[in-house]
Amino acid sequence: MMRAPKSLEGDGIMPIENIVRDLREGVLELAFDRPGKKNAIDAAMYVTLSEALEEAASDDRVRAVVFVGRNGDFTSGNDIADFASGKVLAAGSPVLRFIEALVAAPKPLIAGVEGLAVGIGVTLLLQCDLVYAGRAARFRMPFVDLALVPEAGSTYLLPRIAGRQRAAELVLLGEVFGAEKARDFGFVNEVVTEGEAGAKAREAALAMAAKPPAAMRFAKELLRRGEKEGLREAIERESAIFRERVASPEAAEAFSAFAQKRKADFSRFS
Ligand code: COA
Repeated sequence: MMRAPKSLEGDGIMPIENIVRDLREGVLELAFDRPGKKNAIDAAMYVTLSEALEEAASDDRVRAVVFVGRNGDFTSGNDIADFASGKVLAAGSPVLRFIEALVAAPKPLIAGVEGLAVGIGVTLLLQCDLVYAGRAARFRMPFVDLALVPEAGSTYLLPRIAGRQRAAELVLLGEVFGAEKARDFGFVNEVVTEGEAGAKAREAALAMAAKPPAAMRFAKELLRRGEKEGLREAIERESAIFRERVASPEAAEAFSAFAQKRKADFSRFS
């Protein structure tokens, strides 16, 4: 057995920078936990998530990874304040490191979604192998409303999973949608009783953790192999456009409107 990386040493719960890690019975649970900010993910949280996924890849004790949110929500997505730096999807940024860790993950990724899942809270689900959602979960891809474009390979994965017109509905209209629609569109496996999504995700993860780990890794890789090249190309394409858009006057209007809690006005842009 490989030596456990330092930060995963000793089973149990470790809260670090608004991400709670809990490694038990072969299942690493990563919980978004930023009360008061709807679990918005900042740069430090992306670093913690990336380290956890990278370590999980080589830690024999981890057989499956589960994403959940605390405080009644999954996550409201990227911290909007961080967009001002313009570096969110810059080469080597914590967000890109996290996205690559999702793409490269050799072990099953399972999500249990309750409450809000916004932005990368939705696009990370497309990278998961299994997704469970509580009946009251609400999803949104607000990228265009923020004068941005979708990331994490979602412009590649979503049309393939949901179909192009359904992808257009979610991306171009950017409305809030429910768990049943997410299931009908193909990126939620099952809608469960409100409050049960985390437990259902853990149950599936435990079932996977009991299976032969090498066969599991090969099977997962075979399911994903065909899409990885196109996916990584899409991530590069999205990131290049995102970096340009995040510094645009349209985005400045969107971010200041969010900060000032007013409706954005894009009427002066062409
Ligand atoms: N980044 C930074 N702060 C965020 C955030 C985010 N993604 N999402 C929520 N927050 C903050 C709010 O600014 C607010 O902070 P404040 O109390 O200091 O003003 C706090 O979390 C609570 O959010 P609030 O908007 O009051 O809650 P709500 O229930 O009315 O609405 C959301 C929740 C998620 C619908 C709304 O906050 C929202 O639209 N957030 C932005 C989501 C987003 O666009 N994410 C980026 C994706 S690319």
